[in-house]
Amino acid sequence: MDLHLKDKVAVVTGASKGIGLAIVEALGREGVRVVAGSRGSTPELDALRDTYDVTVVPVDLSTADGADMLVQRAVDRHGRLHILVNNLGAANARAGFLEIDDAEWQRIFDLTFFSAVRASRAALPHLLEADGAAIVNISSINARLPFPMVVDYSAAKAGLSSLTKSLSEEFAARGVRVNAIAPGPVRTPFWTAPGGFADATAAAAGTTAQEAVDVVVPQTMGITTGRVTEPHEVADLTLFLASPIAGNITGAEFVIDGGQIKTT
Ligand SMILES: NC(=O)c1ccc[n+]([C@@H]2O[C@H](COP(=O)([O-])OP(=O)(O)OC[C@H]3O[C@@H](n4cnc5c(N)ncnc54)[C@H](OP(=O)(O)O)[C@@H]3O)[C@@H](O)[C@H]2O)c1
Repeated sequence: MDLHLKDKVAVVTGASKGIGLAIVEALGREGVRVVAGSRGSTPELDALRDTYDVTVVPVDLSTADGADMLVQRAVDRHGRLHILVNNLGAANARAGFLEIDDAEWQRIFDLTFFSAVRASRAALPHLLEADGAAIVNISSINARLPFPMVVDYSAAKAGLSSLTKSLSEEFAARGVRVNAIAPGPVRTPFWTAPGGFADATAAAAGTTAQEAVDVVVPQTMGITTGRVTEPHEVADLTLFLASPIAGNITGAEFVIDGGQIKTT
């Protein structure tokens, strides 16, 4: 399928690993000019920069001016902007609500919610000038399945899902579509990095991190397909939503969780 994305300009936040990296790769393969923001780079992102039209911008998107700087770099380099993917988000495994102080709530909201607020505010003036622009927000099933282990992250993602709907209402008639994707567990460093959720799950289940992701998580979380989602599967959905093929889809949230959510 031709997604009609060639030569469009996209900004992707949280781009050096995991889902963000997969989105940069998928966009690059389609001929999109990608501006990729994260604090550092990785060999994988450097390889994409060397293969496709990818600009790597080192930026801390938890800061007040990080998103402005990233969007400005995209506009300075390419003169226009068509697509914003608000992918950045972060969670820590919590023992419970009472252990999280204000500073930690603020940190998780800065990374998971305010990064998208700020990037959208910086990008929208440019998206409004583009023909057929789109924002795709990477939310989470935790927006609708709040979970004590990630109570702060769940609240931030619920806010992101709400923001998606509000922005879609305000800007659809002016040519900017805004949608969200709500993944269940995805095989990324979010899970697999040392000290991440795979290690926590493995310790609780008395097994290895690999076994935790491949077996324990699908079984205990009720993932009907029997496996977690792969980053490229989220990337493919992102590209569809960003493309003119999805031209009459806005204000929607697409769950990609292998059947984990059991309600309609
Ligand atoms: N993996 C899952 O199971 C899952 C499930 C549902 C939703 N999601 C959502 O999907 C999105 C991507 O998750 P992921 O699993 O791919 O995450 P990840 O593997 O932890 O990667 C996070 C990315 O964000 C960047 N980043 C972290 N802090 C940053 C900062 N202050 N400023 C700029 N960039 C920063 C990291 O690069 P640097 O460290 O170099 O900055 C990295 O590129 C998140 O919104 C997450 O909530 C993930």
